[in-house]
Amino acid sequence: MSTYDFTGRLALVTGGNRGIGLDIVKSLLACGARVALTGSDPERSAARAAELGSEDTVRGYGCDIADGEAVAEMIKQIREEMGEVDFLINNAGLTKDNLFMRMKAEEWSRVIDVNLGGAYNFCRVLARPFMKKREGRIVNITSVVGQIGNAGQVNYSASKAGLIGFTKSLAKELAPRNITVNAVAPGFIKTDMTDALSDEVRESLQASIPLGYLGEAEDVSAAVLFLLSPGARYISGQVLGVNGGMVMQG
Ligand code: NAI
Repeated sequence: MSTYDFTGRLALVTGGNRGIGLDIVKSLLACGARVALTGSDPERSAARAAELGSEDTVRGYGCDIADGEAVAEMIKQIREEMGEVDFLINNAGLTKDNLFMRMKAEEWSRVIDVNLGGAYNFCRVLARPFMKKREGRIVNITSVVGQIGNAGQVNYSASKAGLIGFTKSLAKELAPRNITVNAVAPGFIKTDMTDALSDEVRESLQASIPLGYLGEAEDVSAAVLFLLSPGARYISGQVLGVNGGMVMQG
């Protein structure tokens, strides 16, 4: 997909070494952007980046995004090696599902620390340079379950609902500096995360999707690219659902 021309732009995509994040990275590269992709493991991310293009256009980095100091160090390295970041896509996330009565404190806090704390750690560092140059785009990948809830995912849906409030408040704070902050809320997308579901769960899920099928990573990328494009300059603080019609907001 090369609908847009992002030549000269540098994008930082967290969780860009696989799944939805990897598709976002490939789509950005196809539109001429340069990309810093991150994952948990620096070597694996670097290897993935090397498969995608030369070091001039794409490089891989890694650390635990729940660790604020490690994130700050990693962003410093990215800016030194690749230059100023224009687009931040907070895509990395994980699940640790359990029924609430069985959910351990560690399962609760880890999911909040990675999914919500991770976005905080990246925005905390990049908001300043974005404000200084009076330009920047932030897209946070939330989830349909942050909007409608899901049994067995109290921790995950809290983190994703939190990310929606985070997006709206940050959008208001950064708007005077010409920075937009939006969220994309995928429904059920075919990835490793959803491959792990049982056939029974997948069938009942499909029945709840008006369009009748699971989405693809490229459906999410298309929404992200639009929000990064010049045509979306007047859109901020929004949650764009990519969910086959599962949730329709007024
Ligand atoms: P995935 O499990 O395939 O990839 C997750 C990525 O996040 C990986 O690159 C992983 O390295 C990174 N990551 C996880 N924990 C990390 C940590 N502590 N530090 C650094 N990196 C870490 O997931 P998928 O399916 O591609 O999901 C991407 C995003 O989309 C996630 O935020 C997920 O919550 C969200 N989402 C996915 C849906 C789906 O149906 N697959 C539906 C709705 C939202």
